[in-house]
Amino acid sequence: MSFIKWHPVLYSINNTEFDNHHQKLVDIINKFHKAMMEGKGVDSLEQIFFELKNYTNFHFKAEEEKMLAINYPFYESHKKEHDKLIARMEELSVRAKTGEKLVSIDTFKFLKDWLFTHISRVDKQMGEYIINNKT
Ligand SMILES: [Fe+2]
Ligand SMILES: [Fe+2]
Repeated sequence: MSFIKWHPVLYSINNTEFDNHHQKLVDIINKFHKAMMEGKGVDSLEQIFFELKNYTNFHFKAEEEKMLAINYPFYESHKKEHDKLIARMEELSVRAKTGEKLVSIDTFKFLKDWLFTHISRVDKQMGEYIINNKT
């Protein structure tokens, strides 16, 4: 399993603020991966995961506020995806606390897949809408 390499063109949703957020998310996920590969203990993994949860909450809130401000027509379904991820993250942190060995690998894979699917589908769609509806 490798690190996530940020591709500025491929992953851009053409919005500087949110592109920066996504890049920061990738950085934290990579930090998690690195700690996992170096065999760091549950404590440090938990700490990074906590940082990731906080940043994810901050980022989702920023996107949701933007969508509301521009009357984005797909707000509900986009928010539902955010809520689902937050719930899944909570579930993973509970499992991690039980010391299950595979949880960290599962977590990394899940985050990586989720992030890129979400960015390339719903976030990109939102990015286009923001550009096309600039006043
Ligand atoms: Fe999003
Ligand atoms: Fe996003």
